[in-house]
This record gives sequence, structure tokens and C-alpha cells, in this order.
Amino acid sequence: MAELDVKQLLSGTCLSSISPLSPLDSSEKFSGSHILSIIQFSRHDLDELLLVAGKMKLIVESVGMCDIARGSVMAVLFYESSTRTSSSFQVAMQRLGGQVLAINDISNSSVSKGETLEDTVKCLECYTNVIVLRHPELGAALRASKSLSTACLINAGDGVGEHPTQALLDLYTIQAELPAGRGLEGATITMLGDLKHGRTVHSLAKLLANYKNVKINYVSPEQLKMPKEIVEFVAEKSQGTIQQSEYSTLEKILQETDILYVTRIQRERFSQEIDYLAVANSYIITPQLLSQYGARSTLRILHPLPRVNEISPQLDSDPRAAYFRQMRYGLYVRMALLSWVLGKKLPENLGGTSNLNKGNYDTPQLASH
Ligand code: NCD
Repeated sequence: MAELDVKQLLSGTCLSSISPLSPLDSSEKFSGSHILSIIQFSRHDLDELLLVAGKMKLIVESVGMCDIARGSVMAVLFYESSTRTSSSFQVAMQRLGGQVLAINDISNSSVSKGETLEDTVKCLECYTNVIVLRHPELGAALRASKSLSTACLINAGDGVGEHPTQALLDLYTIQAELPAGRGLEGATITMLGDLKHGRTVHSLAKLLANYKNVKINYVSPEQLKMPKEIVEFVAEKSQGTIQQSEYSTLEKILQETDILYVTRIQRERFSQEIDYLAVANSYIITPQLLSQYGARSTLRILHPLPRVNEISPQLDSDPRAAYFRQMRYGLYVRMALLSWVLGKKLPENLGGTSNLNKGNYDTPQLASH
């Protein structure tokens, strides 16, 4: 996958011209910015975003919504199917008090008449403040962002490229689900499945490079390995403090794993069905497999969903299955991110950091750094 250059990414900044080295706080840094790649987020930004997401959780659980985005409109423009990403962005915007324009079926839009992506987003920019785009083509989000001048674009998946907001919600989930007192640093994260085509694991691996002493295991069939450029990016960015290893089975490493991140074999990315069939059902996580390989009681299983056959529904009631909670966390994270992009701050007096991190099971514990 071609790496997106951070300068190139930030040159798309639409409402403000903030450099990545700016000393501004994270909410100001992202105000009016396109969100195209996870590499735009520093360790500080990630910590800040999780704190805001924790506040969003309190809002949702106490009063359901706030109105900081009143007067703002978000478009969701999806050229690929989606249940969670599209609906959680829509609900996030509504719970911030903003409004939503949803284009989930492009066959009913002018795209079916041959309209270019550039023209479609330019049109939506006339009506909206932020456009959430999912597209099958690698780099489509960057390309679309270049034709915008007032609206911000959020990449909700660009083919086999990235899915930055999924990685942000995965981070929240990992922090929230690790045992109390355990930070991400020192944890072992095992990514399983289609690591070649899975944009969620591409973004997540890059995000983890912001943390020290994380161990990442990549488990996949030979033909679906994590792209070399991403492994190299993680090694370089973490200055070698992240140990990365590749395996073809879980057998030797499930026991040491804190977070098992399962992905679907991405059928739609194979040019020939026969190649997909050769790797379909490579891994199926069952309660029996967890016992056989000695999985910990504190293990947490994540999945961006949809699952096809890779996690048995028998596991859904196991407390180690975190994939449905993961979706819920995504709502808070997307609320937090939208508030930043729209330049809308929550009132200062809304819950202190200490309240948010104390005794609150599913609010992330932030590791000190
Ligand atoms: C993922 C995606 O679209 O990349 N789903 C999601 O956004 N939650 C994963 C997938 O489709 O397998």
C-alpha cells in the first residue's frame, strides 16, 4: 500500500492551516481538518480523543445527547456497503445535536449517471460541513478531499487502504477492556485473518506504533500477510520498541495474547473466487479452540464486524467476546472526533478526567507516558 505522506494529508486541511508540529491542543489541531489516515494522530492526540470519548459516553448514558453540533450537517456517502460505520456516524452526529444527510445507495444518486467522485463531494459540500466517505478505491479519500474547500472529509474506508476511525474505536475498546491497571504498553495484540486486504488492521497497526513495548502478532495464511510497508512503518515509528512477529496459526501464541483482533477474509478484494475459496474459513474461533490453546480468562476478542464464519456465535455470551461492546464504544469515539472536526467543544465543567477514569469499567484507563 502506498504510504500517505503526512504533509500531503494535512495540506488538505480545509478550514484552517495547521501544521503537524503546531503546539495547539488536539481539538484545535483537528478543527476543520480532513481525517484521512491514522498517521495524523500523535500519541497525545490519541490520549486526548479517548478522554473526550469518555465524556461523550457520560453524555449518552445520562441525557442521551448534547447540542454542540446544532446547525451543522454531516453527509455520509458510501460507495461500499456498511451497517456499523454508516449508522454509528449518523447516530453520533444526531447525539451531538447535528443533522445528517445519508447517501448509502449510490445507485439512486448521480453516481449512476457517471458523476465523478470529485463532483459528487463538491456538490455535497454545498449543503454540509462534513462528509464521511467510504469508497472501494485506495486513496479515494485523499483524492476527494483535494476538491473540497469548506467541508471536511472523513475517510470511512478507502478500499484496502485505511479505516482510521475504526482504529480509534479499536483503541478505545482495547484500553477499556484490558484489565484495570493494565495499560496498552506491555500488552500482546494478535491480529488474525486477512491482514493483506483488511484496512482496519492496517490503521490499527499504524496506530499501535505510537505505544511502546506492545507486542504485535500477525496471524494469516501466507497469501494474506500484513503488507511489508506497514510492518516497516511500525518498526520505524516505534523505534524498534514494538516486537512484530508473523505466524500462520494461533497455536503457540494464543496463551500470551491479551487482545485477539479477528478479521473477515475480504472476499470482495479477490480477483478470482477460487483464490478466495482457498483461504475462506482458514480460522474459526470457537470456545473449544480457546480452551485447547490455553486462552486467558482476561483475553478480549475484538472484530470490526461483519463476521462471516470466523467467530462462532457460541462465543457471543462469553465475557471475552468484546465485539458487540466495541460497536458501542465506536459511537462515543465518533462523537468525539466529529466534535473536534467541527470545532465544537464540550463545556469545561462536564466531568473531570479523574471522574472519567475512576471505577468506570468501560472507560479507557490511560497509560502514563
Ligand atoms: C470493516 C470495513 O468495512 O473495513 N467493517 C467496519 O467498518 N466495521 C471490516 C470488514 O468489512 O471486514
